[in-house]
Amino acid sequence: MAILQILQYPDPRLHRVAEPVVSFDQELQRLVSDMAETMYAAPGVGLAATQVDVHRQVLLADTSERHDDLMILINPEILEGKGTSDMEEGCLSVPGIYELVPRYEWIRGRAVDAAGKAFTFEAEGLLAVCIQHEMDHLKGRVFVEYLSRLKQMRIVSKLRKQQRRAG
Ligand code: NI
Repeated sequence: MAILQILQYPDPRLHRVAEPVVSFDQELQRLVSDMAETMYAAPGVGLAATQVDVHRQVLLADTSERHDDLMILINPEILEGKGTSDMEEGCLSVPGIYELVPRYEWIRGRAVDAAGKAFTFEAEGLLAVCIQHEMDHLKGRVFVEYLSRLKQMRIVSKLRKQQRRAG
């Protein structure tokens, strides 16, 4: 296993659209385990392959307190959504920024697991928000892009300053 580097906004690679996974091979198993290690180490509750510069439709989520409930969603789709979430979200690619963006409060969807087996899922609250956020990453969309241009410009300049300080 390895900890992967997480792309930092506004890196243009965060805007690449991920391709569906077609082969459920060793390489995919390694990607999933490296992503899990990277997400738990960060620590974060979700991670999309896009964020580690792999442009395939793979996302992980674990909103449990004990970090023992890993959800692996490959080629995910949302079939139904209800309600409006009122939860602020953050992102490992946009450190220190927390904002409210439009999300369903409850979702039902389908995906395949790391072995290629199809399943349906339901999620609500934080987990539902997390899955929608990570699915946006797979489409090349970062959550701050829901905000006004002015707010986005402020966020970019704040992050650039942080990145310069970090060298
Ligand atoms: Ni994110």
